[in-house]
Amino acid sequence: MPAFPLLFSPLHIRDTQLPNRIVISPMCQYSANDGLANEWHFAHLAKFAMGRAGLVFIEASAVTAQGRITHGDLGIWSDAHADALRPAIEFIQGQGSKVALQLGHAGRKASMQRPWFGNGPVGADDASRGDVAWPIFGATAEPLDDGWLEPQAMTAGDIAHLTEAFVAAARRADTAGVDVLEVHGAHGYLIQTFLSPLSNTRNDGYGGDLKGRMRLALEVTEAVRAAWPEGKPLFFRVSSVDGIENGWEIEDSIALAGELKALGVDVIDCSSGGNSPKGATNSSVGRGLGFQVPFASSIREKAGIMTQAVGLIIDGAQAEDILQSGDADLIAIGREALADPFWPLHQAQAMGLDDEFAMWPEQYGWWLERRSHGLKKILAAE
Ligand SMILES: Cc1cc2nc3c(=O)[nH]c(=O)nc-3n(C[C@H](O)[C@H](O)[C@H](O)COP(=O)(O)O)c2cc1C
Repeated sequence: MPAFPLLFSPLHIRDTQLPNRIVISPMCQYSANDGLANEWHFAHLAKFAMGRAGLVFIEASAVTAQGRITHGDLGIWSDAHADALRPAIEFIQGQGSKVALQLGHAGRKASMQRPWFGNGPVGADDASRGDVAWPIFGATAEPLDDGWLEPQAMTAGDIAHLTEAFVAAARRADTAGVDVLEVHGAHGYLIQTFLSPLSNTRNDGYGGDLKGRMRLALEVTEAVRAAWPEGKPLFFRVSSVDGIENGWEIEDSIALAGELKALGVDVIDCSSGGNSPKGATNSSVGRGLGFQVPFASSIREKAGIMTQAVGLIIDGAQAEDILQSGDADLIAIGREALADPFWPLHQAQAMGLDDEFAMWPEQYGWWLERRSHGLKKILAAE
């Protein structure tokens, strides 16, 4: 291990310097009204910057109202949506962290219940709370499963509108001050349903072989890259594998990553699954600590592109090992950060980097350092 851990070393991508390699993964809060960020989003995101993550992701933000997963999703389909994100963006940057935003469209998983109301398709109970189902679009007219809404199969015209919506959203994110943008191409949402042979049975130029199935992802990404400033990094989140027989495989992700790299994507964010017809969050990929790291490693090695590892990464030693092994360039944490928003600071202490609380916001660190010395004396005396 080098003198200073990679996890806490800066990473330079294009003109953006991330202060460390810890990323807070995008996490929908299902708490927006009409797609607009509110105090909850501010508080949720602000604490990760206080915890000193290098890059804080704003959750999947729908490029059209119709592309939301639930009524509570954030959106970025108007300037008002981007403006509502500004206080959080400015606070995060004021703490020295960078801000990323994930652009998404839910496809046939749109019009779902908020997780705590069932995580299925919106139904009568939800309608009584004001969450009424809306017409949805998909790669095909095939619903996710029995009892789910039937999407309208997207026409070439719909696809052109979708690309325009991604571009407009990218411009808004830039104007609002976002540092890093990500295209959501994972988890059974629209772009991934085009990629995977399990969900794309189209017989036009957007379906068929791998090239046809990749076309939407590549067109959207190319258009977003052209609209997103040259100096700002662009990430793409992929479901590295479907984890289902005859589905999307790691070789497909490697091929996609190569194409994305040529279009100017800087980092592949390596998730998996989500395209199972057995339900919205059915985990078709076996889980264990760091279970998606091998995907990040293969894509990094075989496509020659930076990767972000995510999924059950729980401590600094594990994260450092992933970076040292050359499996990934960035470490994203999701639920671990919900459990401990100060995870980066706690890991720095566990790794012996910050005994004096110098990395903490001074409003906290000044007190905690004194408390720590005091506590040591008290405990030694007992
Ligand atoms: C509450 C919650 C919301 C999530 N929302 C998103 C999202 O908006 N976009 C996305 O790509 N993944 C989303 N995810 C997946 C996470 O980004 C992450 O990949 C996943 O939780 C695995 O990492 P973990 O084991 O560190 O939690 C969400 C996860 C959680 C727990």
